[in-house]
Amino acid sequence: MKICIYGAGYVGLVTGVCLADLGHHVKIIESNSNKLKILRSGKATFYEPDLERLMERNASRLIFEACLHELHNMDALFVCVGTPEDPATGRASMQQIKIVFDELADLCVRTGHLLKKRVPVFIKSTVPVGTNQEITKVLERKSVSGSFLIGSNPEFLREGNAINDFFEPDRLVIGASCDEMFNVASKIYRGLALSEAQFICTDPATAELVKYTANSLLATKLTFMNEIAHLSEKVEANIDQVASAVGADKRIGSAFLKVGPGYGGSCFPKDTKALYEIAQDHNVELSILSSVISANERVRSRLSNLILDRIKRDGRKVAILGVAFKADTDDLREAYSLEIIPLLLSHNCDITIYDPAFIKGSHHSLFPGCKFAQSSSEALQDADIILVLTEWKEFGNVRLVKTEKEPFIFDFRNILNVEEHDPGKFYRIGIKQGNGAVE
Ligand code: UGA
Repeated sequence: MKICIYGAGYVGLVTGVCLADLGHHVKIIESNSNKLKILRSGKATFYEPDLERLMERNASRLIFEACLHELHNMDALFVCVGTPEDPATGRASMQQIKIVFDELADLCVRTGHLLKKRVPVFIKSTVPVGTNQEITKVLERKSVSGSFLIGSNPEFLREGNAINDFFEPDRLVIGASCDEMFNVASKIYRGLALSEAQFICTDPATAELVKYTANSLLATKLTFMNEIAHLSEKVEANIDQVASAVGADKRIGSAFLKVGPGYGGSCFPKDTKALYEIAQDHNVELSILSSVISANERVRSRLSNLILDRIKRDGRKVAILGVAFKADTDDLREAYSLEIIPLLLSHNCDITIYDPAFIKGSHHSLFPGCKFAQSSSEALQDADIILVLTEWKEFGNVRLVKTEKEPFIFDFRNILNVEEHDPGKFYRIGIKQGNGAVE
């Protein structure tokens, strides 16, 4: 099939490349000329395991363009542009979505107005409930609604695991008001061999709400564990064992119980706030969600206070392992590192960073005033304080060299092997600390 993807961001590029791998001919539209240049050279614009290999394997079925010139030969379109948080309102910004549909309407008018067959357009971007309906009305006002079928196909791709999530989804959700959209979607995704139960056909509003509910529920689950972790420290329990025992209950499930420095990334922070605002618009108070949003902030400030307290005693030379918001990505959006590093710099700390996704110099300007190491051992040299912020697998193998003055370790991912370290000189979230309990 011939498929067009609007937006070569995270969702668009991964989806486009994976659809090409399923045998489709995919045109990806990216308006940013720098990004377009990189993509045309066969490179991805962000780090995602296996993505460039798939781009290379499917190069003959992938085209990158600055804009779409014709619609009539397209079997389906996917809208994957960003809907970042509007900081003034906490809602999802619809600016880029609007641009796409303005362009599509213009293209329709320019190339002969009504098309012979209606082009199915699936919205993958996370959009407020009611967006499908809104867009249909906009297209009606522009007298081009007869050229398109609008539907929703929310994405559930995790950064760092996006390719696996695409090929082995738990479910696929299609929200549309006509069977033709469900049929087209089933043809597009035929290669995934999903069971009937995994292919969920529903109305657009339900599909839109599924996406926000899924992200908000996952954020709730892990935030609850982050709060229990605080209690676990006080009662001298072990949160990792609590998580595995609780998660063994199939009704609860073991995913998203891992404690850490609060949730970050481009999705949970924005989607929890956006869902809260959507509910407010309908006079519904999502009190649990509102607590989750503030609890996540509290989790982070509690950890920051622990560090600030410790630098006064142990010194200001700080080694940071991992700055990305999670492992297997170079994404910094809403990463805890962006909060703690400026705070440490304002307290005159001397910071060295090591993150496997940030080895090349181009990233270094993102953290002015910090040094970058090429390895964890280089970063750890002479450190007074070690902070582990990202759960890169390789940190599990970091060897802590015995020195006269052992550094204080804050392991916010409970990943380092600290067995031989002075028990009074490390902190792991939610686990009984040694003699040097920090609170
Ligand atoms: C999330 C969802 O998991 C995807 O299903 C969804 O498609 C995506 O948002 C999106 O809306 O585009 P992502 O933001 O890539 O994916 O990352 P997650 O793996 O969900 O992690 C989000 C945050 O939660 C990270 O800060 C991570 O460190 C934290 N987390 C996750 C924990 O602290 N503990 C856990 O057990 C799991």
